[in-house]
Amino acid sequence: MDYLKEFEKLVESQVERVKEMKKEQDFIDYKNLDKIIIGIIGGDGIGPAITLQAQRVLEFLLKDEIQLGKIELRTIEGCTIENRAKVNKAIPDDVLAEIKKCHVLLKGPTTTPRKGDQWANVESANVSMRKELDLFANVRPVKVPELGIDWTFFRENTEDLYALGSQGMNINEDVAFDFKVISTPGTQRIARIAFEYAKNNGKKKVTVVTKANIVKTTDGKFLDTCMEIAKEYPDIEVDDWYIDIMTAKLIDEKRRTQFQVMVLPNLYGDILTDEAAEFQGGVGTAGSANIGKRYAMFEAIHGSAPRMVEEGRDIYADPSSIIRAGGMLLSHIGYQDRAEKLYTALDICSETEKKIALTGRKDGATGEQFADYIMSTL
Ligand code: IPM
Ligand code: MG
Repeated sequence: MDYLKEFEKLVESQVERVKEMKKEQDFIDYKNLDKIIIGIIGGDGIGPAITLQAQRVLEFLLKDEIQLGKIELRTIEGCTIENRAKVNKAIPDDVLAEIKKCHVLLKGPTTTPRKGDQWANVESANVSMRKELDLFANVRPVKVPELGIDWTFFRENTEDLYALGSQGMNINEDVAFDFKVISTPGTQRIARIAFEYAKNNGKKKVTVVTKANIVKTTDGKFLDTCMEIAKEYPDIEVDDWYIDIMTAKLIDEKRRTQFQVMVLPNLYGDILTDEAAEFQGGVGTAGSANIGKRYAMFEAIHGSAPRMVEEGRDIYADPSSIIRAGGMLLSHIGYQDRAEKLYTALDICSETEKKIALTGRKDGATGEQFADYIMSTL
């Protein structure tokens, strides 16, 4: 393999991508649409079972709008690992075409193949969807009121080690390369959305997380660019931390309550948000919003749990994370009040009242019973 030629191609593709990004467009305004199309993607493993329950809850909350034709819920088939492996693509072309006809998406977990398992080692459907739809902001809130934790993470979602994560090179038997890409406009847009969020939600501080002392060029650019954007928001304090000490400070009881809004490159964001979600009861409880200017996708942050399906337990899987993601979707398209109601119902059903318990097994409730409980609480 002529790796210099290959590298040249990668560089060109990235320069091209960033050029496209600079053709600034505005965020879509859902108020101006005759109809909002919500695509429902079941995914793999327990995905279809839990996503169906989230869909039922959304249908319940949006009954009037659906009847009036102002909102359509559209099921998108075929985004399964079997299908993806068969056509050897992260997302099959026909599925992607269907996805692109929607405005927002609710997505169940999709299996990410890894070397050595039974599937072709295609790129993660998640990562591919984020890139294809340019969903540049991965927004992950973590709240634990009794510990004084109220964090919102803005993880850049299209660049960093993920941009070319499936296009590394083995230069020879002994030497392997992957590539890390950070761009100025890519960082500006994630920084801006984080500061805007802080401004509009009464937050006083934004924390930039990098490893710019070591990864000087790319993380250096990320940090410098965030600091430039910070100047546009003189009322908001900004500080910067390195990712290693940041992971430590999240477990420092005195320090951690001072963090409010975090902005960080893709991989650090991936890692730190799993750690953060653990304080709230684990990745099973968190929802995640992937926001772009034209599209937005909402998902659970846990995996597809294929073992539960093999053991016939998918109907007992906990749908609360994807239902919460459905709440984030509602608030994104302008139904903030209904989203709040849904969060309250989730808290009542899984914490304060807890009339039924999900155990993931026959001795617990089914996801369907849990969704019914949510709807009766609403
Ligand atoms: C996440 C997940 C994904 C990621 C995987 C499933 C590709 O860990 O959403 O955090 O690495 O981004
Ligand atoms: Mg992750």
